[in-house]
Amino acid sequence: MRMYDIIIKKRNGEELSKEEIQFFIEGYTKGTIPDYQASALLMAIYFKGMNKRETADLTMAMVNSGSVIDLSAIEGIKVDKHSTGGVGDKTTLMLAPMVAAAGVPVAKMSGRGLGHTGGTLDKLESIQGLRVDLPLIEFTQNVNDIKIAVCGQTGDLAPADKKLYALRDVTATVDNLSLIASSIMSKKLAAGSDAIVLDVKTGSGAFMKTLDDSFMLAKEMVDIGTSLNKNVIALITEMNEPLGLAVGNALEVKEAIETLKGNGPEDFMHLCIELGAAMLILGGRTSDIEEARQILQHTIESGAALQKLKDMVKAQHGNVAQIDNPELLPKASKVLDIISEDTGYVQGIDAEGIGRAALAIGAGRETKESPIDYAVGIVLDKKVGDYVKKGEVLAKVHINDLSKLDECRQKLLGAYKLSEGKPEKRPLIFGVVDKNGIKRY
Ligand code: URA
Repeated sequence: MRMYDIIIKKRNGEELSKEEIQFFIEGYTKGTIPDYQASALLMAIYFKGMNKRETADLTMAMVNSGSVIDLSAIEGIKVDKHSTGGVGDKTTLMLAPMVAAAGVPVAKMSGRGLGHTGGTLDKLESIQGLRVDLPLIEFTQNVNDIKIAVCGQTGDLAPADKKLYALRDVTATVDNLSLIASSIMSKKLAAGSDAIVLDVKTGSGAFMKTLDDSFMLAKEMVDIGTSLNKNVIALITEMNEPLGLAVGNALEVKEAIETLKGNGPEDFMHLCIELGAAMLILGGRTSDIEEARQILQHTIESGAALQKLKDMVKAQHGNVAQIDNPELLPKASKVLDIISEDTGYVQGIDAEGIGRAALAIGAGRETKESPIDYAVGIVLDKKVGDYVKKGEVLAKVHINDLSKLDECRQKLLGAYKLSEGKPEKRPLIFGVVDKNGIKRY
C-alpha cells in the first residue's frame, strides 16, 4: 500500500477502506509517513469528507494506535467530559471540582489549545508547578484519594490523535466533522471512563458554526460511543460569544476561582450546572435533574468545590497559594482599555475573532512549537445584549508585547457587532443528543 495512492483516492472523493485508514494511522504514528503527506490527506478529508463508516474506522484506528487505559482500579462510575472547543471555555476548571465534590469520580484527560480555541492543559499550567503529566498510577491514585485528577493525554494514549491534533492545528484542518468526532472519541474511548458527557459548541467561536452541523457532530460522536457500549450524552451549547468574560490562560483560571466562590458570570455558572447535572446522572449520583442541579449548587455555597480544586492543585504539585490568592497567578505588565468607536446594543461578539485577538498577543500557539504567554488575554466588559456608548470600554487587553496591540485591537473591535435594537437573547443550551436520538429545545 502507498500513502500517495490513499491521498489521490480521497482527493478524488472516493471512500477509503478500513485497511487504508489503518495503514495511514499506523504509518503516521510510527513516523514512516511524513507530516507533508499526512497534511495532504487531512486537507483532502477536509474538502471531500468521510462517511460514518470511515469516521468510525478512523476513530478505532486512533484508539488502537496506543494503549487503552484501565481505570478499573478507580471505584465507582467514572464520568468524563469533553468540549469540542470554544473561546473562554474554562468549564473543566469549574465542573471537575464541582462534580468531584458531589461524590462522582472525575478522571479527566484534557487537551491543549487548538486553532483559535484554548485548552484546559495550558490553563492549568499557568498555575506554578502544576503537573499535567502524572504517571497513570499517580493519576488513578489521586482519583481514588480525592476523586479528581485532570491530566494530559499520556504519550501512549491515542498517540495518533496527539500527533494529528498538533498537525491539524497548524494546517487549517481542524473544523471538519469526521476529524473532530474521531479525535475526541478516540481519546475518550482510550481514556477508559464508563460514561461521557460531550459539550458540543455551536456558533461563531465553535468549529461547527451552524446548529445543524453541531447536532450532526453530536450524533456522530454519540453513535460511535453507543456502538461501543458507552453511555454518552451530548449537550449543544452556545458559542456565539465567548463563555464568561475572560479569555486567556491565567485570566480564565482566575475567573474559574471566582465562580467557584459564587461570584462568576451567569452564563458560565449556568453551563457548568447543566453539564455537571448530566455528569451526576450518568455517574449514578441521582436520576433527578433538578436534584442534580441542587447538589451542584450546594458544592459552591458550601465551598466544597473550591476546596476540591485546591486538593487537586496540591495533588498535582501546583502552588495552592495561587488559588487562595489569584493575584499571585501570572500577570501581564500592562492592562489597556479597548474603547468602542460606536454606540448601540451589542448584537453579537464573534468569538473566533476574540480568540484570534487573544492568539495575536500570545495566549495560544502559532506553530506546534510556539510558547504560550500564560499572563496575557482579554477580559470583556460588554457582552451580547449590553448597551454601549461611543467612548466606553468594550474590553481590557492584558498584554506584555505592545507591538501586538494594534493587531489585537483591530481583531477585537472587528468582533463586536453593534446595532440599534436590543437583540433577542439566545438560549445557552440548544438541545441534547443521546442514544435515544436528538432532542432540540
Ligand atoms: N477537541 C478535540 O479533542 N479534537 C478536535 O478535533 C477538536 C476539539
